[in-house]
Amino acid sequence: MNSGSERSSSLWMEIDAAEGPPSLSGEERADILVVGSGIAGLSAAYELTQAGRSVIVLDRGPLSGGMSARTTAHLASDCDDYYHALVSSLGLEAARTFHQSHVAAINRIEAIQEAEAIDCDFARLDGYLFAASEGDVGLLDRELEACQRVGVTGVERLESAPLPGAAGRACLRFSGQGRFHPRKYMNGLIAALRRDGARLYANSPVESVEEADGGVVAKCVGGARVRCDAAVIATNSPVNDWMAIHTKQAPYRTYAFAAPVPKGSVPDALFWDTADPYHYVRLQPRNDDEDVLIVGGEDHKTGHAGADEIRERIERLEAWARGFFPTMGIVERIWSGQVLEPTDRLPYIGRNHGNAAIYVATGDSGQGMTSGVAAGILLRELVLGREHAWAAAFDPRRKPASVAAATEYLKENLDVAARMLAHVTPGEVKSVEDLPPGSGAIIRRGLGKIAAYRAESGRLYLHSASCTHAGCVLEWNPFEMCWDCPCHGSQFAPDGEVLNGPAIHPLRNPD
Ligand SMILES: Cc1cc2nc3c(=O)[nH]c(=O)nc-3n(C[C@H](O)[C@H](O)[C@H](O)COP(=O)(O)OP(=O)(O)OC[C@H]3O[C@@H](n4cnc5c(N)ncnc54)[C@H](O)[C@@H]3O)c2cc1C
Ligand code: FES
Repeated sequence: MNSGSERSSSLWMEIDAAEGPPSLSGEERADILVVGSGIAGLSAAYELTQAGRSVIVLDRGPLSGGMSARTTAHLASDCDDYYHALVSSLGLEAARTFHQSHVAAINRIEAIQEAEAIDCDFARLDGYLFAASEGDVGLLDRELEACQRVGVTGVERLESAPLPGAAGRACLRFSGQGRFHPRKYMNGLIAALRRDGARLYANSPVESVEEADGGVVAKCVGGARVRCDAAVIATNSPVNDWMAIHTKQAPYRTYAFAAPVPKGSVPDALFWDTADPYHYVRLQPRNDDEDVLIVGGEDHKTGHAGADEIRERIERLEAWARGFFPTMGIVERIWSGQVLEPTDRLPYIGRNHGNAAIYVATGDSGQGMTSGVAAGILLRELVLGREHAWAAAFDPRRKPASVAAATEYLKENLDVAARMLAHVTPGEVKSVEDLPPGSGAIIRRGLGKIAAYRAESGRLYLHSASCTHAGCVLEWNPFEMCWDCPCHGSQFAPDGEVLNGPAIHPLRNPD
């Protein structure tokens, strides 16, 4: 299982994922092991296979079923945290690296879909960052100036965004952005990998990855193993590192929906605004008569919103979209997913803390599709023992390098500490008798807390409410019908199985 088993399903999930052999058994050897078959893992596997290395890919659930199947897949080389903020906190060089890596990622996707003939609706288009209010116009000016210093080409200020409901709102236009259908693209990568001899196994949760005898040994739950020269951990939230990297990023949930619009009534472009959290919009082509409008936003820290608040957030998102896109039809599907926000705004891609041959790619933020592809490019070079210009900026071992990053680091880790102490606070409901069918809640029992879920059938599932990663108290996610860990983003199904790391093991029985 993985986050593909959350209750909601995205537009992309209308297309089946490529099937994998059920699971790895026994022991196999390869030059490189890639753990995780999302955009980052598949991109790294593809680059290393193309470089002539033998590659095994393992995934804990179905292939490509993680957050890469829940994305909205804007391919943008703007910076969703703003270049002016990056420049002032990390400096011009770091901002340039961010920009160059995202431009390179879009170029790489374009080149791969062409070379591999992957029919994935890839298109180059413009992206528009528009002012959410009159007061944000100055922010656009600051961003334009920073773009010029960073060397972002093809960006200009317009007095009016080309949005049906946003006439008269200033915006920045970025040319050369892109969009694609992520599931079609990842299925194409999987086909290319198989053609070139890579071995991909689904339903193979990795429980340990360790350096031994000059190489790396990975063990799966159930005992299967892979021996390799180097391993890339692309599990969205790294499962090989117990704490170091998790203190430097925080999980946020974001929402998206899809609704039809008559063809031609909305420009085929990317849109996002200056609100915090920001709204993001794109089109997905459907047929000769209509396109699908995909609208996302209303992010909040994982585990920090109950049922009423989530409902209000989704209603706000739809109301916001109706104001700007009056031709939008009935919402056909709503889904959510999780992103990991690095405290200093840059992804973590490179050699893991304390390892010589284990590499990670994480810290995706809202631009993880492009940073996942950039991870493929950078990790290919590092695994092959070569230098790369992006390596220092994205080094996972870096420390917070600015006051802003250090403050963010402190804030997120104080929140984690509070969640660890939540074991001593009262429960949400007094007894399991108060739990209606189809809902979950945390209940105090003696000195501990229980995660209680009552299925529609009336069957009761009771587990310890302590996350199996590092013990934070879980929160029920009524939208996705799963347990979320607010500390580092683990998720568990109602029956206690892991959906998303860094946890590896299912929830324990109550004491
Ligand atoms: C609603 C939403 C909208 C977004 N919009 C955009 C956007 O417009 N543009 C953009 O660039 N980014 C966007 N993002 C972010 C982007 O989608 C993600 O950052 C990206 O998909 C992460 O890819 P990944 O490969 O790191 O992780 P995943 O796709 O989650 O892949 C990780 C894989 O690792 C596997 N795994 C986990 N643990 C184990 C284990 N123990 N053993 C084996 N396998 C394991 C999982 O099963 C999973 O398949 C969005 C995200 C969301 C949720
Ligand atoms: S994810 Fe780290 S304690 Fe739960």
